Amino acid sequence: GRVTVVGAGNVGMIAAMRLAESDVIDEVVLVDIAGQRAAGIALDIAHASPLLGFATRVRGVNTLAEAGPSDYVVITAGKARTPGMSRTDLVDTNAAIVGALAADAALISPDAVLLIVTNPLDEMTEHAWRTSGFPTSRVIGMAGVLDSSRFRALTASRAGVHPREVSAVALGSHGAEMVMPLSQATVSGRPVTEALSGAQVDALVDRARNSGAEVVGLLKSGSAFFTPGLAAARMVLSMIDETGEVQAATVAPHGEYGIDAGYVGLPVRLGRRGLDEIVEVPLTDAERRELRTAADRIAERVSALSA
Ligand code: NAI
Repeated sequence: GRVTVVGAGNVGMIAAMRLAESDVIDEVVLVDIAGQRAAGIALDIAHASPLLGFATRVRGVNTLAEAGPSDYVVITAGKARTPGMSRTDLVDTNAAIVGALAADAALISPDAVLLIVTNPLDEMTEHAWRTSGFPTSRVIGMAGVLDSSRFRALTASRAGVHPREVSAVALGSHGAEMVMPLSQATVSGRPVTEALSGAQVDALVDRARNSGAEVVGLLKSGSAFFTPGLAAARMVLSMIDETGEVQAATVAPHGEYGIDAGYVGLPVRLGRRGLDEIVEVPLTDAERRELRTAADRIAERVSALSA
């Protein structure tokens, strides 16, 4: 099969690298409008094939048409934040880019699964769904895998355990309304709220929620890309490999968690054809309310976008 990654910038190149390295895809194609950038990055990745031991072909082109029909199209194209910017500041510029790309992808790859990475993530995912005309099950956003990984990394370091010992799933929106259900978060199989103090846990949730801005502030130019790129690749690989793992993704619920419109981050199982199932985990009433608030805020921002 073929996976196309649109945007050969920081996030796209890391995603493409990881996808190629997995050696389970026939061809990974990078698409970027900027000159020969995609071709250059693709060649550089291909040169690593003997070192990393993969046979995946890697190609770089300027348009989705040149990429050809793809099973998965990952959209990372657009502007990233600079210091002081919120993700929402990117909305108009990136909506034009993502809308055009989603429409193109629908023509060239009518059966593809679209994985949206471009920010503001929640709005861009819904926008891509509308412009593609695809069923919601085939337009999914990447945010929760990244936000969960950030929380788990920070928590593991605080608790002094291996990162694999921490499980957690970040839901809601990618930004201020990220919901971290502590009822689902564990450290070495114990509730996180028993392993650490309430103040410690609150600080970890806040830091995870603001990790994107923290990295932007340190880098000065550009935003986080290693974990975002790896998270996007991981989602694609989980679909190809049909791992059936429960992970957080930005999807369109039809009544699950009492939400029946728009996109929001929820626990899901993905399959080869996109969203298989939204998984109902036992959240507390307060956590469910937070989720619904996040969904409402996203819906408000989406309606401002289409106005
Ligand atoms: P970047 O600036 O390094 O790369 C973006 C690339 O997109 C550039 O190479 C640019 O030439 C290309 N591009 C722009 N318009 C295009 C078009 N119409 N067709 C093809 N390529 C086009 O930015 P970076 O750091 O890779 O970030 C990409 C996006 O991902 C940003 O919107 C960023 O905010 C978002 N992001 C989302 C995350 C998430 O959790 N969902 C996490 C990190 C970043």
